[in-house]
Amino acid sequence: MEPQQLLAMLAPGQSLSGTVLAAKAGVSRAAVWKQIQILRDRGVPIEASTSMGYQLPWPLQMLDGKAIRASMPPSLAAVLGALEVHWELDSTSSELQRRGSQAADFSILLAETQTAGRGRRGRPWLSPPGLNLYLSCLKRFENGFASLAGLSLAIGVIVLRAMDSLGIAGAGLKWPNDLLATGGTRPVGKLGGILVELNGEYQGPCAAIIGIGLNLRLTEVLREQAGQPTCDLATLVGGDPPDRNQVAARLIGALVEGLQQFESEGFEGFAADFARHDLLRGERIHLAGASGAFDGIGAGVDARGALLVRANDGELHRIDSADVTVRRT
Ligand code: BTN
Repeated sequence: MEPQQLLAMLAPGQSLSGTVLAAKAGVSRAAVWKQIQILRDRGVPIEASTSMGYQLPWPLQMLDGKAIRASMPPSLAAVLGALEVHWELDSTSSELQRRGSQAADFSILLAETQTAGRGRRGRPWLSPPGLNLYLSCLKRFENGFASLAGLSLAIGVIVLRAMDSLGIAGAGLKWPNDLLATGGTRPVGKLGGILVELNGEYQGPCAAIIGIGLNLRLTEVLREQAGQPTCDLATLVGGDPPDRNQVAARLIGALVEGLQQFESEGFEGFAADFARHDLLRGERIHLAGASGAFDGIGAGVDARGALLVRANDGELHRIDSADVTVRRT
């Protein structure tokens, strides 16, 4: 018995006894127990009671490539080079990196769980099965790295467009590409993250591997492990989040449309949307980067997507890379 088989049986959210689960899978109760432990160790909150058996606290949908494709407009689905759903990968982005030139343009990989999910700046990205979305997309570009300025900011806008199409509001963007839930205009927790990695020729054909992690359901344990304020779509909608395959379909559809737009318009086509969702604009912020640390007020981004900060001495700084902390006043 594989853990994904057990998770699929529990997915509807009804309670099932160890005996029923074992009979359905054709294995012993001990084998069921072992897989329950494996899923729990990976962060799936399986509840147990002697009278009821095993149960998830909410129903979930297993990722399904066919269902994702079927939920996408055919014109967008036709653009995809690949759409693969894996139970487990080390990292969807690492897998696309390994495929390199073999991967077609607009290849999409999703995983139910990642064993070595990667965040920005070498941080881990916790990736328990069944709860959230972890996907990567490979997009090729012809004109070198310079034409990709602002791409990671544009991806943030694209994720918000997908959420908007699902009727989900209450999120904003923290430069360069954190997706944060907001209480009013104030960030309240990280809803998702974006990791853009570039390969290829500096001034010629190159490829962007765009990794997106989106929180649909976080458990208490996950929130504690994250080590920073977090949020999920369930909290934003105040109940069950939309079907995971539906969210994946909207996200992938928005990526296809958005990346085609980026190819023809560059960051300029996204600048106004980014400005509307920019959570740092007008905020007191602290920056720590290679060239030192300083405080200032967020002043938007420039045409290349660099962060503009009005320092306390009045000087306007242009920042390409830094850790940014929002200082509450
Ligand atoms: C961040 O630090 O905010 C970026 C997180 C990016 C996580 C996603 S999940 C899918 C893809 N695979 C990875 O290993 N990382 C990205």
